[in-house]
Amino acid sequence: VKMNNITSPNVLVTGGLGYVGSHTCVALHQAGYTPIIYDNLSNSSAAVAEQLARICGRRFDLIQAEVGDAQALKQCFADYPIEAVLHFAALKAVGESTAQPLMYYQNNVCDSAILMKQMHEAGIKRLVFSSSATVYGDPQYLPIDEDHSKAPTNPYGWSKLMVEQMMRDQCQAHSDDLSIALRYFNPVGAHESGLLGENPTGIPNNLVPYVTQTAVGQREKLHIYGNDYDTPDGTGIRDYVHVMDLAEGHVQALGQLYSSNGFHAFNLGTGTGASVLDVVNTFEAVSGRAVPYSIAERRPGDVATTIAAPTLAKARLNWQASRDLKQMLADSWHWQSKYPQGI
Ligand code: WQD
Repeated sequence: VKMNNITSPNVLVTGGLGYVGSHTCVALHQAGYTPIIYDNLSNSSAAVAEQLARICGRRFDLIQAEVGDAQALKQCFADYPIEAVLHFAALKAVGESTAQPLMYYQNNVCDSAILMKQMHEAGIKRLVFSSSATVYGDPQYLPIDEDHSKAPTNPYGWSKLMVEQMMRDQCQAHSDDLSIALRYFNPVGAHESGLLGENPTGIPNNLVPYVTQTAVGQREKLHIYGNDYDTPDGTGIRDYVHVMDLAEGHVQALGQLYSSNGFHAFNLGTGTGASVLDVVNTFEAVSGRAVPYSIAERRPGDVATTIAAPTLAKARLNWQASRDLKQMLADSWHWQSKYPQGI
């Protein structure tokens, strides 16, 4: 499948106003693509579109619609010569998925099937999907490579694995389809401009936005969920990866979609672990701000350690993370201190 010789290929970015989606729009623009943003604004705001315009020096068309709206998708594919779809739009709170599994299966699985059907009918053969390390479940060995067993422990993780299965089956049925699932480990950080960042609605589930909101005075203190894990300092270890490294990983994946076919999955991580206390101490060092915390009970479902083996993405996508934990936390702080209430 050859890349058309059009100057700036149009790619549809579902969830393009979200955290990873918006940062990926910056990387796409810088790589010469034209992102067409498709977002229902359920967990983002139109203000993000303004920030994108400031960073990129141009506006991207925004279609405010549901991924599950077949008619809206048909119209979009009629209006734009879409070369590929990057599918970020999904619900992603693990705890919420346990409480409301059907909402997760409807949004993340059924709506993705509608998207893939409309893509097929429109002759769009290239898909990059935002998957997650939660498809692996509890680590059986470390670091985790793409052959690790898939045993999600929550409906969110299952919903990601189910979409991967749909992509495998669709590529099996249509041999010139090209689908890549990117399994993120722990996305953190913000664009260097400080104009984009992790902007969760409500109380953050994730560590880094909770740390930055505590540092900026939005939260009283951080609760560290257990310091009795089997790790050097007793707190949980994760593979944090800069959101701009992730964004660039999607551009690398798109490049592949013009020269290969079938279904492929890649881990996007650094291969390096950091504990909760590593994050807190590094953040305090780079920001000069104290992060008061107390040790709380373990959070159900948490594991001690999870770290990616990033070797396959390096070999096949020529991608590897280049930003370290200090950079991740400095950029997160730059964003949060500019926008204490988010945008
Ligand atoms: C990191 C570490 C916590 C908050 C989740 C999802 C995963 C993916 C990334 C979507 C752990 C500790 C956290 C806090 C804490 N999301 N922690 N206090 O759980 O590794 O992964 O986000 O794809 O699907 O599972 O990330 O940031 O929630 O936790 O002590 O207030 O920080 O125990 O050790 P996690 P996290």
